[in-house]
Amino acid sequence: MLLNILVKAAVVYISFHLIWRVFRHSRFANLAGPPSSSWFFGNIPELFNPNGWNFHYGILKKYGTTMTIKGALGEPMVLTCDPKALHHILVKDQLIYEASISDIFFGEGLLSTFGEQHRKQRKMLNPVFSINHMREMIPLFYEVTNRLRAALSKKLDNGPKEIDVLHWTSRTALELIGQSGMGFSFDSLVDDNDYHPTVSTGPLMFYATQYIFPLAKKFDFPRVKRFIAEHIPLERAQGLIHIIDVMRQTSIEIIEEKKKALMNSDPAVVAEMESKKDIISILMRANTTVSEEDRLSDEEVIGQVSTLVFAAMDTTSSALARILWLLSEHPDVQEKMRDEITEAQKNGELSYDQLVSLPYLDAVCRETLRVYPPVSFAALRNLRKDTVLPFSKPVLDSNGKEVTEIFLRNGTGVIVSLLGANTNPDIWGPDSYEWKPERWLSQLPETVAGAHMPGVYSHVMTFLGGGRACLGFKFSQLEMKVVLSVLLASFRFAKSKSKPVVWKMTGIASPMVESGDGKTRELPLFLSLVD
Ligand code: HEM
Ligand SMILES: *[C@@H]1O[C@H](CO)[C@@H](O)[C@H](O)[C@H]1NC(C)=O
Ligand SMILES: *[C@@H]1O[C@H](CO)[C@@H](O)[C@H](O)[C@H]1NC(C)=O
Repeated sequence: MLLNILVKAAVVYISFHLIWRVFRHSRFANLAGPPSSSWFFGNIPELFNPNGWNFHYGILKKYGTTMTIKGALGEPMVLTCDPKALHHILVKDQLIYEASISDIFFGEGLLSTFGEQHRKQRKMLNPVFSINHMREMIPLFYEVTNRLRAALSKKLDNGPKEIDVLHWTSRTALELIGQSGMGFSFDSLVDDNDYHPTVSTGPLMFYATQYIFPLAKKFDFPRVKRFIAEHIPLERAQGLIHIIDVMRQTSIEIIEEKKKALMNSDPAVVAEMESKKDIISILMRANTTVSEEDRLSDEEVIGQVSTLVFAAMDTTSSALARILWLLSEHPDVQEKMRDEITEAQKNGELSYDQLVSLPYLDAVCRETLRVYPPVSFAALRNLRKDTVLPFSKPVLDSNGKEVTEIFLRNGTGVIVSLLGANTNPDIWGPDSYEWKPERWLSQLPETVAGAHMPGVYSHVMTFLGGGRACLGFKFSQLEMKVVLSVLLASFRFAKSKSKPVVWKMTGIASPMVESGDGKTRELPLFLSLVD
């Protein structure tokens, strides 16, 4: 009864809110952009379609690097991959382009805090992702990856076999972030388990983050948030809630334990605590040395853990799976990589410096992350102030006039197309859409550096840029390189003979079997032992 009234009130509220938003925008010029396919949903169904690759490439070809996209009830939003516009959105004016991910799932973690609190949290977390710390984590990465190799070898006891590679890259990514994040093992990686990642396909997540979560935020009671999170029909979210619950509980216990250890009278216990390298330990030690106003509450530390798991797990496993899939499609590239790796491994396991300096391994990783960024365009921002957004390349406005900037009203939604930025032919040349690892081994076109893409990594936007850029990009590089160097030395990866794989444009790109249920993510590849 009460619930019924609440739901109705929410629907009325959202409707009025939307109409008001559309009305405010209607008096300003827009850019050219694709016509709405639906008066109610605008372009959202095509934009967030799991088969939307051609829609995305198509609108970028047709309308250029910046365009107007229609949201619910035709509300204008901006989609861009123009370098100058990206610089304004992510760097120069970042404080007025507010990220729209909600704290419903992640507590007070980096992905859901803003302004001063966000800055303070990033400062505390930075050392965790420094090169020095990456070096120290190498043994842990190898330990986990060797377990993965053992598990896969065991499966090939009776000869070559088809294996769902995504299942294993996901479990490996979870184990790595669990171990390095909390010093806690979630998965022994020994046997099969029934972990089968699914995704919410379609635009549901968009509606949730744009229209439902902000509403939930207004009711600032944890239990109401929880209720909303639990009743949103997103399978992925539900799976995530379970993982996050376990992490949350575990984090609370670990923090209590560590607090006790830090205050122990036995110096040996304190010394052990001082030497721990997981993220919670590092944050807790830092907490005792920084000034009062920079300290993190327990809630913030717990929030970081679930945020990191969410940010690290599916992204990196998607990227790794994509590389292994590409290598199965391009056996020549796979052989060349294997040669480079086995040659370097002659004197045993590769050190951090050896691993990061293998040129072909590096080229394959860079090219894959450029052409196939795991996050295609999610970086959604909401403008908090009227502003002017300038472009480096002119586009047409809705009257057919060439413009080099656009006036945007407070409240406008902005979508950054990472895919568009990474495959822009003006920057990368006429073969920009093709996957060619070799391009990184020779001189890149001058237009690449000349574009001044504000990305943190390699002139591409895969890990975003500015104050909210991906913190874990070095971590994920290292993870990919360790896993690839270990697996390629032991296994050959070939295409599945019976199950053709298609990649879906879900929030994080996912492989699925063409004839599958459209929900279960899987990447069947045919594995055999190397000699
Ligand atoms: C290939 C793998 C990865 C990709 C493609 C990726 C991509 C991204 C992107 C696009 C964002 C910006 C999201 C937004 O603001 O809209 C982001 C943020 C973030 N990523 Fe990653 N990520 C990857 C791996 C990782 C890993 C392994 C970690 C941690 C160990 C991590 C930690 C984070 C954190 C903490 C943020 C939030 C930063 C902030 O808001 O200040 N990511 N990532
Ligand atoms: C950090 O320090 C504050 C203030 O001393 C304290 O209340 C809080 O519990 C500490 N947080 C952690 C995670 O140790
Ligand atoms: C922009 O709009 C928001 C929400 O309607 C409002 O809270 C904020 O004060 C506005 N900003 C400015 C600078 O007017």
